[in-house]
Amino acid sequence: MFTALRFSLFGLLTFTLAQAAVAADCAPVQKRGAEVFANECGVCHSVSKGMAGMMGPNLAGVVGRKSGSLEGFNYSQAMRSKNIDWQAENIEQLITQPQAYMPGTYMPYMGLASADDRQAVVCYLKEQH
Ligand code: HEC
Repeated sequence: MFTALRFSLFGLLTFTLAQAAVAADCAPVQKRGAEVFANECGVCHSVSKGMAGMMGPNLAGVVGRKSGSLEGFNYSQAMRSKNIDWQAENIEQLITQPQAYMPGTYMPYMGLASADDRQAVVCYLKEQH
């Protein structure tokens, strides 16, 4: 009986690991990512290359870009001195609670509570070159 229990726990663990591997893959959440962007970010950010004049910096190509480096955008001192490369992980941290991640940022956004939505929107950003 204990052996059977051990086997089923093992099965459960491998199942969970398989789920985690799927979660890291962006394909299934592309559509959700676009929706989250439109609802949560699109009012301040554009992903159309070269489009300026919005409250937030253009996010086309933001993954891999240095923080606070878009030519012509008036960033906060906090953003200009952060000096990081934007990657999935730190963008997710930023949008969890911008003021906590970067005290003094100009990004007037309360944060995105759902980890799934954060992951989806970052997946979407990875596709915007
Ligand atoms: C109410 C307007 C507003 C909303 C909504 C908003 N942002 Fe921002 N965002 C800004 C502003 C303003 C900045 C510049 C902040 C600074 O200089 O400190 C910024 C900066 C950023 C940066 C850094 C870009 C760079 O060039 O370094 C990223 C990444 C970002 N926002 C992602 C997002 C995402 C993803 C969402 C949606 C989940 C979002 N923002 C929602 C206004 C907004």
